[in-house]
Amino acid sequence: MSDALELATRALKHFNEGTTDLAPSQMRIPLSAYTDEQQYRAERQAVFFESPIAVALSLEVPEPGDFQTQTVMDIPLLITRDRDGRVRCFINVCRHRGAKVCQAEKGHQSRFSCPYHAWTYNNRGELVGIYGEETFGDVDRASMGLTELACDESAGVIFVCLTPGKTFELSEWLGEFADKLADQALYDWHLYTERYLSGAGWKATLDGYLEIYHHDSVHGKTVGPHTVGNLLVHDTWGPHQRMAIARKNIGELNESTPETWTTPEAYIRVVHSVFPNLSISAILGGQCLIGFIFPGETSTTTVTRQLILSAKAPVSDKEAEKIETFSQMTLQAVRDEDYALVATVQNALHSGANESFLIGRNEPAVQHYHQSIAAVCGTG
Ligand code: FES
Ligand SMILES: [Fe+2]
Repeated sequence: MSDALELATRALKHFNEGTTDLAPSQMRIPLSAYTDEQQYRAERQAVFFESPIAVALSLEVPEPGDFQTQTVMDIPLLITRDRDGRVRCFINVCRHRGAKVCQAEKGHQSRFSCPYHAWTYNNRGELVGIYGEETFGDVDRASMGLTELACDESAGVIFVCLTPGKTFELSEWLGEFADKLADQALYDWHLYTERYLSGAGWKATLDGYLEIYHHDSVHGKTVGPHTVGNLLVHDTWGPHQRMAIARKNIGELNESTPETWTTPEAYIRVVHSVFPNLSISAILGGQCLIGFIFPGETSTTTVTRQLILSAKAPVSDKEAEKIETFSQMTLQAVRDEDYALVATVQNALHSGANESFLIGRNEPAVQHYHQSIAAVCGTG
């Protein structure tokens, strides 16, 4: 049975019975998990600096010689694809006296000359040129390349470990979830637009990505009308999660037996959540919303790098209008609805109203996310 068929079958059963996938019990999360800065720093270190995190899509650097830069949690990154097609990630900081080496956001070049004193590095990070070397004095070039970070890609997603010298095995980290990601064929989409959103604290923000319970109340004018509220089909692979929700038309499937369904994917929407910071929401009809969520300096803020993908580059006004409409709708749903509401949560964490949050049985993915943080931190 295909994944879409299985998910549509499970979603239809919930629809007919008025049920949803449930966690075994409710969960209490002490508010300190959201507010304690010491705990925040320890968790941010273990989860975001010592474990692999998703930072980009392979389609952002598709060809050898392509590069992309961004700053992730105050670390300037230079992501390249070398002549062998291997994706690499460096700290975008010169080894001479620390200037930002590559100032461009993206492009195609295999050499990067530091704007300060013109030391030059190639896209494998090697120091290949020193201006005025005869006056500078000897430099051990082999040890003065750009600082490289462990980096790998799977299923069109680029993962990095932000701690120099720390490595990871991506196939172990993703396990069988890699197959589910591969089915999304993310390397094959067109990047329509990219934008940054600032948001509330890490956990309050992520919680909002991990339940459908709020869709009818928060998204009544955007994504809500297309989906069935409070109906979630939930699966986990290690810390990673998949959430399927039912589209409003799912009842039509009652008119035939699953063996005859030709397009079960037309009745559901599926979100893949790659722990700890990537949400992939591919919509039928060739539109995809990607969110990379990064915790801020303190527990009170996040930065989201949001990408809008279309199946193909729009070639007509009609196609351009379609993807632009989707882009605007998701911006409204995420920034003006989700993030605006979560800001009220963040602002009132110290109000004294709650000592803990109660997470429902119908919010299993929120529960699983918090359990996964504890597992990675060794506190679970
Ligand atoms: S800081 Fe880059 S060459 Fe001096
Ligand atoms: Fe939402």
